[in-house]
Amino acid sequence: MPSHDIALIGLGVMGQNLVLNMDRHGFAVAVYNRTRSVTEQFMAERAAGTAVIGCFEPAELAAALKPPRRILLMVKAGGPVDAVIQQLRPHLQPGDVLIDGGNSHFADTARRSKDLEADGLRYLGVGISGGEEGALYGPSIMPGGPPAAYETVRPIFEAIAARADDGAPCVAYLGPLGAGHYVKMVHNGIEYAVMQLIAEIYDLLRRGLGTSAEALARTFAEWNRGELASYLMEITAAVLRRQDPLTGQPITEVILDSAEQKGTGRWTVQEALEMGVPIPTISAAVEARGLSALKAQRLAASRLLHGPQPGEPPAREAVEAAARQALYAGTVCAYAQGMALLQRASGERDFGIDLAETARIWRAGCIIRAAMLEDIRRAYAAESSLSSLLTASPFREALGEMNAGWRQALETSLRLGIPTPSGSASLAYYDAMRSARLPANLTQAQRDYFGAHTYQRLDREGAFHTDWLAEG
Ligand SMILES: NC(=O)c1ccc[n+]([C@@H]2O[C@H](COP(=O)([O-])OP(=O)(O)OC[C@H]3O[C@@H](n4cnc5c(N)ncnc54)[C@H](OP(=O)(O)O)[C@@H]3O)[C@@H](O)[C@H]2O)c1
Repeated sequence: MPSHDIALIGLGVMGQNLVLNMDRHGFAVAVYNRTRSVTEQFMAERAAGTAVIGCFEPAELAAALKPPRRILLMVKAGGPVDAVIQQLRPHLQPGDVLIDGGNSHFADTARRSKDLEADGLRYLGVGISGGEEGALYGPSIMPGGPPAAYETVRPIFEAIAARADDGAPCVAYLGPLGAGHYVKMVHNGIEYAVMQLIAEIYDLLRRGLGTSAEALARTFAEWNRGELASYLMEITAAVLRRQDPLTGQPITEVILDSAEQKGTGRWTVQEALEMGVPIPTISAAVEARGLSALKAQRLAASRLLHGPQPGEPPAREAVEAAARQALYAGTVCAYAQGMALLQRASGERDFGIDLAETARIWRAGCIIRAAMLEDIRRAYAAESSLSSLLTASPFREALGEMNAGWRQALETSLRLGIPTPSGSASLAYYDAMRSARLPANLTQAQRDYFGAHTYQRLDREGAFHTDWLAEG
């Protein structure tokens, strides 16, 4: 007799914890993993004493589920998702719901969804954020796909999702096809940007001013109690506090300065270019990881290239106060860019994503959860077609008040030769957005000069061309 509510395939870090989360909330879960020993070990250890059952064949898994079957895939994105779908397909029936909870590309999700629809199978692409702990105690869940299919998993998702301060579960239906994975992709793009902004401020204070890791841990912990309160701030303080057991030094001093990436940041930038939405803070963060990975080249060049001469060290307290403002302002820019991309894609790709709902479900459980998300939610709830988050209260006022500090922190970094790719990109974004007139008039004239591309005028309609080689 089929008796189980949901199946999960892929007992990696996320999969195992999601299973235990669902079990804790009273759902009967059946699990399957490609490598048999992983299932055996999970059943013998972490799932011991739970109602979870281990299956060793896709057919066995399918037979254990109540109709319509709900099967959550938590495998590596890309080929593995297609491989698992092909294995399962012969054992499924029309109406069954497959859910991809991994970090799949939204276009792959749309392709799989259309393909499975031919057999009457329903497909949900669901972004899940929160890492190991979030998966176990409450992630932020970003589902997309057919609305009726979402209704079949909604009670489960609402039970296992994180809860924000108002008690609302951090999950909401976001739109058709790849809308959920799209929102997760942009979430990760913002995550890249905020992490880079924090790293730049850390660099300014640690390398530029020589502040110790322990003192910085206290600074970030203090900032985490105010307008910058966020999960990334909290873990930054914890990371800086941690000692290396091998050397007794702060662990950050012995970790190789070469950052890795799995692709969601790059996808966000590629998609933004495709959509024509500028996201310079996020792009710079992806580039910064690329620069960090050039460790050997940087080492070689560091012996050859000169920077500024060390002068009088700036007053620490003033720089710290300015750095706090620069971090807040840069973070607002990262969110503004991510939301602008979601807004454009929502129309162009027919996702119909509700930006207030998106901000709402990011308030807890996910990696970018932050106090400012409630302000972002309010801004889009008040005006869903807001043209830029920068112009909404309280951000407009805050960025105005913090302007001097923001610039001062970046000036200090420049003077000390500390790179601030995302911080500088944020200020340039802000300055460009508040410029009623930019120098693109000159760019247009140059394009018309060498390519007769024509230009438009401020004072009359139409396309104009100048014969640049004629006497003016
Ligand atoms: N880790 C995180 O913090 C996090 C956060 C959010 C989202 N995600 C996303 O969630 C998904 C799962 O991530 P994860 O970190 O838990 O694990 P992962 O390392 O990405 O994936 C491991 C799982 O995928 C299975 N797998 C790999 N190739 C397979 C194939 N060809 N056929 C069948 N199964 C295959 C593995 O099975 P075997 O045991 O047989 O190798 C294992 O169960 C990924 O898409 C990831 O990007 C991860």
